[in-house]
Parts: sequence; C-alpha cells; structure tokens
Amino acid sequence: MAAASMLSLLLLILLCLSYYSCSTMGDGGGGSSEQEADRVARLPGQPASPAVSQFAGYVGVNERHGRALFYWFFEAQATPSEKKPLLLWLNGGPGCSSIGYGAASELGPLRVVRQGAALEFNQYGWNKEANLLFLESPVGVGFSYTNTSSDLANLNDDFVAEDTYSFLVNWFKRFPQYKYNEFYISGESYAGHYVPQLADLVYERNKDKKASTYINLKGFIVGNPLTNDYYDSKGLAEYAWSHAVVSDQVYDHIKKTCNFNDSNWTDDCNTAMNIIFSQYHEIDIYNIYAPKCLLNNTSASSADSAFLANDQEQFRRRIRMFSGYDPCYSSYAEDYFNKHDVQEAFHANANGLLAGKWQVCSDQILNSYNFSVLSILPIYSKLIKAGLRVWLYSGDADGRVPVIGSRYCVEALGLPIKTDWQSWYLDKQVAGRFVEYHGMTMVTVRGAGHLVPLNKPAQGLMLINAFLHGEQFPTSR
Ligand SMILES: *[C@@H]1O[C@H](CO)[C@@H](O)[C@H](O)[C@H]1NC(C)=O
Ligand SMILES: *[C@@H]1O[C@H](CO)[C@@H](O)[C@H](O)[C@H]1NC(C)=O
Ligand SMILES: *[C@@H]1O[C@H](CO)[C@@H](O)[C@H](O)[C@H]1NC(C)=O
Ligand SMILES: *[C@@H]1O[C@H](CO)[C@@H](O)[C@H](O)[C@H]1NC(C)=O
Ligand SMILES: *[C@@H]1O[C@H](CO)[C@@H](O)[C@H](O)[C@H]1NC(C)=O
Ligand SMILES: *[C@@H]1O[C@H](CO)[C@@H](O)[C@H](O)[C@H]1NC(C)=O
Repeated sequence: MAAASMLSLLLLILLCLSYYSCSTMGDGGGGSSEQEADRVARLPGQPASPAVSQFAGYVGVNERHGRALFYWFFEAQATPSEKKPLLLWLNGGPGCSSIGYGAASELGPLRVVRQGAALEFNQYGWNKEANLLFLESPVGVGFSYTNTSSDLANLNDDFVAEDTYSFLVNWFKRFPQYKYNEFYISGESYAGHYVPQLADLVYERNKDKKASTYINLKGFIVGNPLTNDYYDSKGLAEYAWSHAVVSDQVYDHIKKTCNFNDSNWTDDCNTAMNIIFSQYHEIDIYNIYAPKCLLNNTSASSADSAFLANDQEQFRRRIRMFSGYDPCYSSYAEDYFNKHDVQEAFHANANGLLAGKWQVCSDQILNSYNFSVLSILPIYSKLIKAGLRVWLYSGDADGRVPVIGSRYCVEALGLPIKTDWQSWYLDKQVAGRFVEYHGMTMVTVRGAGHLVPLNKPAQGLMLINAFLHGEQFPTSR
C-alpha cells in the first residue's frame, strides 16, 4: 500500500514536470466577453423567482487531444458575491456527473423535479454563502468530452487530477474576479480520491507563489469518501454485520477468510463478501433505511447488476451511487438534461459531440477506469501539516462507504484530539456528532446516507457553512 502511494506521488511529480506547459495553454485570454457568453439567462422550467445568477459552458483542458470539461457555476446569493469563498464540488463514480448529482439532485440552488419536468429552487443550496462551481469530470462524463478516444482508456487518478487542475487554471482566466477569493474543494464518494489529490496538485503547483496560475486554496471537505481500501472494506463488512444486514456466520467467515490488506482478494473472500452485496441488492446500500428505487431505466440503476457479479474487479467498480429521499431522482436528471432546449440554454453539446444520451453515470468510464491508488491517507498527513483546513463528514446510514471505515481512516492519521466526540444540534435535535483533531475535523450526519445534502439538506447546509467559516457546531439544544 505504501509502495503504491509512493509510486503515485512519484508519478504526480513526473506528470507535473512534463504536463506543466500543456496545462497552461488552451483557453487563454477571455475574461469578461467569454464569461458573458457562458451566462445562462434562464433554463427551461426554471422558476421565475428568485433570480439565480448562473453560467455554464466548456473549458478546454488539453488542446492537443481536444479535451474539454463542462461546468455549471452559481454566484453566491449573499452579496457581494465577489467577497464570498469559491467552492468546487466533485462527484465520484468514477463516471458520475456532478451536474446530475451534486447540482441537480443534491446541493445546487436549482434541482430537477419529478419526471424532469422542471426545476425547483432549493432553499438549502450551498451557494447561500459560497460561489458554487460544479464540474463534470473526467472527460467522458456527462457533457465533458475528448476528441481523442484513446484518452478514455487511460483514465486514472493522476489523469483526473491533471485535467481538473488545467480546468481550474483556465476557468480562473475566464472568471478572473474570483482568483483571489478563498478557494475550497469538496465532493463525495469516489471524489474522496479526486478532492485530496486535486488539493495536493494545487498545493504543489502553488509553490511558485508568483506564478500567474497561483490558486488561493484554503482547504477541502469530503463526504462518505473512499479513502483507504483496507479500512473502507473492513468498515463495509463490520457495518453490514452491525446493522443486521448479514448473519453472525457470514461475518465470522469474512473475518477468517478476508485479508483486506491484500488488494487481491481470495476466491473465498470474494464469495463471502458477495453475500453482503446480495443482501444489499435487496435494499439501497447507499441509504440502508430508505426505500429502494424500483424504476429500471436510469443509467445509475444498471449499477445494480454489478452486485450480482462474482469477482473483486466488479466489487471495485461498485462505487456507484443512487439512492435518496425520492429513491428515483437520478432518472429525473436524465429526463431533464437530454431535452434539446435544455442543452441549448445550457451551452452544452452544441456541435452534437455527445456520442449518445447524457447519462448521470457512465458505465464506459466506470469499466475502463484504472484503480491504481489504494490509500489517500498520505495526502491527508501532508496537507494537514501544510495547514489546509481538512474536514471529513459521513452520513451514518450509508452501507457503501460506511462511517465505521471513515473513523478507522481518521484514527489512523494519529492526530491529537482537540475537542472530544460530541453531539451537534439542529432544531433542538441531534443532527450528528463531531470530533475535532489538531489538523482536521470529522463530522457525522445522523440518518443520512451516501448523499448527505440530498437526505438531510438543512444539516448539509449547516455543515458546509461551518466548514467555510471554520466555526464550531452548536453543542447544545
Ligand atoms: C473537438 O472537435 C470538434 C470538431 O472538430 C471541434 O469543434 C472542437 O472544438 C474540438 N474540441 C476541442 C476541445 O478541441
Ligand atoms: C493491515 O493493515 C493495517 C493498517 O496498515 C494494520 O493495522 C493491520 O494490522 C494489518 N492487518 C493484517 C492482517 O495484516
Ligand atoms: C490475484 O489472484 C488471482 C487468483 O487468485 C491471480 O490469478 C492473479 O494473478 C492475482 N493478481 C495479482 C495482481 O496478484
Ligand atoms: C424492470 O426490468 C425487469 C426485467 O428486465 C422487468 O421484469 C420489470 O418489469 C421491469 N420493471 C419496470 C418497472 O419497468
Ligand atoms: C423503461 O423503458 C422502456 C422502453 O425502453 C419503457 O417501455 C418503460 O415504460 C420504461 N419503464 C419505466 C418504469 O420508466
Ligand atoms: C494503471 O495506472 C498505474 C498508475 O498510473 C500504471 O502504473 C498502470 O500501468 C496502469 N494500468 C493500466 C492497465 O493501464
């Protein structure tokens, strides 16, 4: 594990050297006219009020290969927005869209309603206090594309971090008024890899403080994040047993046969773990007490079939997410974003470059993605030492990246405790618990699944505002 992490760090450094020049080319100049061209006056079905200041469009990330990433940006509702922090949100998968999930289903100010008929204003949108940027990443996800199809066979964490970094550099050229705002990175699930890795890349490139590409990064926050294969797998098994999903016998067998330190599971371990997954197939692993979506037709639901496959490769690719209060919401996003008038108003897919339908999650990306990094913890240690604000939150009803594994991960960092584990409150009820370490904060959200802002919107907004302001939670009713 350590060797793999060392290797990836080394690769990062090599990539930094060789890609640096290409990452700064592409979308040069720009500023206000390009920015105005991206302004979205109003989307089809958007409520007439309140007013929402939004932009959407493509940003080139690699000219030679013809790669462009699609973004959706909301100015902060609080004025003056230019003084408020800038928050980037990333979803995981790999292969899932931050527009379909983060923006349109979870924490954006405009969410898609049933059957994709319209948009509704979300009073818990995370752009209350922050300028909020959603990115579809990597290429092949959502509206983001490459003109070099072989790119799609080369996707791994380093590739994603490099392209996302190039996106940021070029986005700031288009929106220079945000260049000096405090900048934070956020995301959930497999973005537990993307977010710290991007923060690390920004931190490294920022070492040249005078570079025109300097980014004012202050910290990152991740939710139900894939962090360390060993702890996350161990946590998954323990959670399934401790939440009455599988029998004592199955759990005992897993304890005896599975060595999660070996990234290559034995057949015996695969068989035992598969019993867990077949039980979760009956319910919603991402929110174990919620009803399961019984619609067939969203691309996210095809992930379900992966639960029936019988090998670890399939297991690794089960990091998909769909669940929630309305268990079928991800099909609504697909209905909405495939409408021609929506794509036109959104500046998306103008040349008809999209091969097929817009999908909330891409099976092709998930299946070709090269999972080469087993632990993100070394990056935590490094960036905590560097003084970045680092928070991890966890919806405690998620069976896929359960709170137990996240606790193991945080404990493994060995940070001294600053404030003991205790409850935090909203509306006189316990909203969750938190523990402050010297260097980072861990927060749980009671009763939320994998998608915290979707399941517990008021708690989610309180959480992000506390993070952005570096404030403590209310510790009494
Ligand atoms: C990809 O190719 C199309 C068609 O040639 C072109 O219009 C587009 O600008 C290219 N995209 C990028 C990012 O270079
Ligand atoms: C697996 O790795 C963890 C963390 O590195 C360690 O604490 C544990 O003892 C290891 N377990 C086995 C069975 O090797
Ligand atoms: C993983 O295990 C299988 C059989 O159990 C073996 O064929 C394969 O070579 C192993 N792969 C690695 C990377 O060790
Ligand atoms: C979903 O698909 C299965 C088989 O593919 C079919 O039996 C079932 O009726 C479908 N359900 C719905 C709601 O379309
Ligand atoms: C699923 O798609 C099929 C055709 O592709 C359609 O007949 C069916 O009504 C759809 N089911 C649901 C529940 O939307
Ligand atoms: C996956 O990525 C790792 C690290 O970048 C690389 O060493 C390895 O060759 C890649 N594997 C494949 C099959 O592309």
